[in-house]
Parts: sequence; structure tokens; C-alpha cells
Amino acid sequence: MKVLEQLYEGKAKRVFKTDDDNLYMVEYKDDATAFNGQKKGTIAHKGVLNNKISGWFFKRLAENGVDNHLVEVVDDDHQLVKRVEIVKLEVIIRNIIAGSMAKRLGLEEGTEISEPIIEFSYKDDDLGDPLINRYHAQAIGVATKEEIDTIMAQAFKVNDLLSKWLDEANLILVDFKLEFGRTPDGKIILADEISPDTCRLWDKDTRKKLDKDRFRQDLGDVAEAYVEVWNRLQKLDK
Ligand code: C5P
Repeated sequence: MKVLEQLYEGKAKRVFKTDDDNLYMVEYKDDATAFNGQKKGTIAHKGVLNNKISGWFFKRLAENGVDNHLVEVVDDDHQLVKRVEIVKLEVIIRNIIAGSMAKRLGLEEGTEISEPIIEFSYKDDDLGDPLINRYHAQAIGVATKEEIDTIMAQAFKVNDLLSKWLDEANLILVDFKLEFGRTPDGKIILADEISPDTCRLWDKDTRKKLDKDRFRQDLGDVAEAYVEVWNRLQKLDK
């Protein structure tokens, strides 16, 4: 396998072509951004940790019937993934009120809700990823009705599986963001990453934040929180 030219550089990852037309190489970076790029920094060893954590989730998800882009975690900061065209949607599931939902609805962070909430943002940095619903997505051609049905079913399944595993690791899955991609033959599969960058994770006993909110809110011990999450997941394999 030969890694060829860079295709894309995002806030936390780089994507490279390979000599296999159906595979991309992803490199995880230590760079961290928040508030649509307004706050910038680096988190020591974040690339390695997110690569391992995301690889752990994607492998287990595939084993549990959630088709996804991961082929293999190649080394500390690289993953080989299937080539997909990313659907321009950020799919967010919330189990507890926090973040932008707390702000938007004037609810206190930590408010319990009776059922999970799913929401979509239109992936466009210049517009600040505006909140849309499935009808906007279908009407403007971001995805078809059938694709949105698949995305929603997969997202809720990911929520059930992740919530269960994280509970075993004494963590609460407060909320998280997923992205999906279209394979060259038009199938929708889970893509991007699942990590403390893209999830809110609270310790079940103390409610200590073990995710990117530590960076967003200058709470300190950011890298330590990512290490803690990885250590707890690894223990589940034993
Ligand atoms: O900021 P907000 O409360 O809407 O974020 C909801 C969840 O989605 C959080 O877990 C956050 O980390 C994640 N998210 C993300 N990338 C974005 C926006 C939100 O991973 N661009």
C-alpha cells in the first residue's frame, strides 16, 4: 500500500489518497479547535489517542452490524478507511442536555430528557454549520429520504451500543456527533470519527467532564481526560 498526495486537511485530520482507488489514509492530528475554529490549540498526544479510541469504537460497531469506513488502524496516528463521499450533515444525538442545546433552549446543563434527541446541522464552515431538519436536507439535495432514514436508524443504533459500552466504562454518553459517507456504489456507511473530540463523556459518579469541553472551557487536564477514556475502554477488552 502506497500513500499518495494529500486530498484534504481538516481541523483534526488529514486525508491522503492511496494507490488503491477505494482506500484513503487518515492521519489524526494533535490540533484542536472549538467554536467553529475561533479557539485554536493543541492537545498533547490527541492524535494518537483519538486514533486508538475511534478505532476501538468503529471496530466494535462493525462487529455489531454498524457498517462503517474503518479498514484498519495502521499505526499510532494513521487509519486506513474506505473511500466515501461525506454527506454534508453533522448528525447529533443528545441523551442529556448540554452544550448548544442548553444555550438554545435555556435549559440547565445536565437536565435529563425523556428520550434521545436527534438533530442535523448542514456541514458548512462558512455558515457555521446551521441547524436544519430532515426536510431541509431532502429538499436541498443533501441526502435522499431513504438515505436520511438509514442515517437516523444507524445513528440511534450507534447511540444504544455506545451508551452501553460507555456505561460499562463508568461513563455517561451525554451527546455526540456522527458523519456518514456514500461509498462509490451508493451505500450509506458511518464515517469520520468517534472520540472525546466528538462526544461529551462524563464520569458516572462525579460527572467530571472527560472530553473536549475541558479544552473549550479551559478546565485543564485535557490530555489526561483523553488518556482516562482510552484506559477505561481498554479495560473492557480484558
Ligand atoms: O456544541 P453542541 O452542543 O451542539 O455539540 C453536540 C455534540 O456534537 C458534542 O458532543 C460535540 O462535541 C459534537 N460536535 C462535534 N463537531 C461539531 C459540533 C459538535 O463533534 N462541529
